[in-house]
Amino acid sequence: MTRNPFSPTFGVSPPLLVGRDDLIGEFASGLGDGPGSPSRATLYTGARGTGKTVILNAVQEVAKEQAWLVISETATPGFITRLATIHLPGILSSQRVERKMTRLTGVSLPFGAGGATWDTTNVHPTPLTFRNQLELVTDTLAEHGTGVLITLDELHYRQIDELREFGATLQHAFREEREVAFAGAGLPSAVSAVLNDNVLTFLQRADRYVLGPVDFADVERAIREPIEANGRTIAPAALDEAAHATGGYPFLIQLVGRYSWRQHPSEEEITLADVTMGVTEARKRMGSLIFEPALADLSDIDRTFLTVMAQDDGPSRMSDICVRLNVTANFGSQYRLRLIEAGLIEGVRHGEVDFVQPLLREYLREHAIVSALRSGNPKILGEQTLTFKPPKGGGLRR
Ligand SMILES: Nc1ncnc2c1ncn2[C@@H]1O[C@H](COP(=O)(O)OP(=O)(O)OP(=O)(O)O)[C@@H](O)[C@H]1O
Ligand SMILES: [Mg+2]
Repeated sequence: MTRNPFSPTFGVSPPLLVGRDDLIGEFASGLGDGPGSPSRATLYTGARGTGKTVILNAVQEVAKEQAWLVISETATPGFITRLATIHLPGILSSQRVERKMTRLTGVSLPFGAGGATWDTTNVHPTPLTFRNQLELVTDTLAEHGTGVLITLDELHYRQIDELREFGATLQHAFREEREVAFAGAGLPSAVSAVLNDNVLTFLQRADRYVLGPVDFADVERAIREPIEANGRTIAPAALDEAAHATGGYPFLIQLVGRYSWRQHPSEEEITLADVTMGVTEARKRMGSLIFEPALADLSDIDRTFLTVMAQDDGPSRMSDICVRLNVTANFGSQYRLRLIEAGLIEGVRHGEVDFVQPLLREYLREHAIVSALRSGNPKILGEQTLTFKPPKGGGLRR
């Protein structure tokens, strides 16, 4: 029995990363193109589980292949201090750079029995700031014809002060044509809140990509190839069913793969029956891992908006939604924008919206039915019985 290759875990790179080659290639060529290349500052946004963290992992890999040094951070409190006092000094004290520095500065290093324990502050007694450390590192790396990539995951407005310092310093480094690159990631709403801060021109100018669903053919590859590489096969009808069930959503590729594999792990072939069971289990996990937390982050009105959308089998007309909510078009469009920013819905045609993740519709239907049954009103989806209180100042249809 071989190991289950699928990895439905946030931040863990999949056995086969599909559908992102162009983006990764774009970033890689930016490193080669030299300072001034626009893709040397890139932002990736997308809903939960679309693969933001793993694309950061992937660009780190291509940077390493080009002999760049890589620093991987998360925009949690203190990240600037960590960059200034741990990561950048860490690069400077790496042995390869030490030797070079010895030659450059004439300072001999204590290569003793215990190995290199050189402390950069001995040579540079100035305080460790993000700016001076970045300058030191890029000066040093330039001697080796290479540079440093900094990735910053989970961008959020909460860290706006540190992000301002970060942006200002990188902007300065770019202007001085230093060999430095940046890739950041965050949820769409979090990133747009950061970008709305008009001080952050550096981030506003960054190349920005929204990670969407992956093509059907790529999904099939992402499922089939890891299975075959691990000594099993999947029946064509089973593969088709599995790929369709993901809707192209990266996190579901891993969940469906994982749960289909584990139905009969010692059989050679994964059958349609295995996939049918696997998909059911994957959807349950998806509800608790993705939808519950996403809905918990929303206001009551946002949730009600989504619930009335779930009455439709396909895209919903905004005019219908406003009638169901009993609000003006203007009021409805504000909520539309918020939910688009949260990555939960998208505009499809003029005046229509749809769920980014079709499974959310099913989840909301089940959920609404359950809560309606609890409240003794099983017809909640058929009739407009949802209570809805507009905020002070109105918005109610006249
Ligand atoms: N292109 C892809 N092909 C196959 N699997 C993928 C792909 N992108 C992501 N995955 C898988 O999807 C899952 C979620 O990826 P990741 O953790 O990068 O999402 P995220 O966008 O960072 O989510 P969050 O917003 O919660 O941080 C992981 O299990 C990962 O292996
Ligand atoms: Mg992530």
